[in-house]
Amino acid sequence: MQSTFTHQGLRSPLLRRSLRKPYPVAVRGEGVYLWDADGKRYLDFSASAAVNFIGHGVREIADVMVEQSRQVEFVHSSQFTTPVAEEFAAELLDFASGHFRGGAVFFTSGGSEAIEAALKLARQYQVEIGQAKRHQVLSRNQSYHGSTLGALAVSGNRKRREIYLPMVREFAHIGMPYCYRCDFDCADGCRNCGQQYAVELDHAIEATNGEAAAFILEPVSGATLGAVTPPPGYLQSIAEICRRHGVLLIADEVMTGMGRTGRNFACEHWDIAPDILVTAKGLSSGYAPLGAVIATRKVVDAIADGSGALLHGYTYNAHPVSLAVGRAVLRRIQSQNLVHAADSGAAVTVGGALKTALESLRDLNIVGDVRGIGLLWGVEFVQDKKTKQPFPPERNLAGQIGEACRKRGLLVYPMQGCADGVSGDHILIAPPAVITAEQIAWAVEQLRKGIADTER
Ligand SMILES: Cc1ncc(COP(=O)(O)O)c(C=O)c1O
Repeated sequence: MQSTFTHQGLRSPLLRRSLRKPYPVAVRGEGVYLWDADGKRYLDFSASAAVNFIGHGVREIADVMVEQSRQVEFVHSSQFTTPVAEEFAAELLDFASGHFRGGAVFFTSGGSEAIEAALKLARQYQVEIGQAKRHQVLSRNQSYHGSTLGALAVSGNRKRREIYLPMVREFAHIGMPYCYRCDFDCADGCRNCGQQYAVELDHAIEATNGEAAAFILEPVSGATLGAVTPPPGYLQSIAEICRRHGVLLIADEVMTGMGRTGRNFACEHWDIAPDILVTAKGLSSGYAPLGAVIATRKVVDAIADGSGALLHGYTYNAHPVSLAVGRAVLRRIQSQNLVHAADSGAAVTVGGALKTALESLRDLNIVGDVRGIGLLWGVEFVQDKKTKQPFPPERNLAGQIGEACRKRGLLVYPMQGCADGVSGDHILIAPPAVITAEQIAWAVEQLRKGIADTER
């Protein structure tokens, strides 16, 4: 098989992400490994972009896809429901804890679609309960909620938004607690400033003059900041402020849901109960396109007791083949105890082993911060550890480290912009939960060498 497709130089009939670089051709996956057409093996240390959780190449998932396509491959959700949709929705509500009892799930084909659906659901809820004035969705700077225009409007990732801004309707963005680069002059691990950040939400809601419908956040910041966990008490205060103002709380757990952080959903670490929970990525572990909006009973009741119809839909929402995959993935997560495996706070787990191994990188000259939880970690690089001065963005240090690692057979997820939206380099580490302690040790050794190769 061709190992790179380089028709007319780098041009291809496929509109690829970059038209400037050649891509290796992926041909096989198994466990934590991917192989390209040259036979080179890669350890998938970031599960692509924090997608795969159960490991690559699981045969039983392929089997359920075939079985479901043979039975019924597709029906339109305006005409039919299916056994797999009804059963998987009930199982997912259980998995999302008692707080969602009596609620309901809306399935999509991925994260951005699910975020769009959640934003519209929040608006419809407010209209149904007689609060038609409420339409603004508040969010945070340096967040990422997806690439469609509605999701982009509530995201705070400067680089990904810049050229599209004239096309989107914007509402207020508040500050994001980022302890390594805290806005406040604190020396207590952000114990108090979490409250100062939360108060910004109070003020932003008041400034809408009763037009705020919802507030959306990632409980643990994903790609943009690189696995930044919230300071103590922050999320609880946010939840309380939303409740007090009649504003729905939407938790974007596209990346952090389905066990990634060592809990079924990351919100459980801080004991907060969002009105709407959005998930994707690990939900299907990448075996099929799938996302989900999980709504509490309060939200669903408003529609059931009001207009009685959801004013939103996609041709492929609740696609039977994707749902058969999701269901089989959830069974595997549970039967193999993968949420526990991901728990970095528990003794003798791969989550714990990953935390310890990554912490050891702090001795490197350019490693400024190592942060994260469960199997979701960020490593941030700086020119000067004392001043936390980032590298010039043109150097693309994170990209270079990613490439140095790739040459060594290790895949990580490089990102830029954590310091101010443009500069600041970090990589995201988020392996499948089936990784072993030996594989982690090998991967972190390669990462250490990849950083050294780049620093030279
Ligand atoms: C927190 C978060 N929300 C939403 C999305 C968008 O999901 P998708 O890329 O599946 O559309 C992502 C993707 O990285 C994400 O990390």
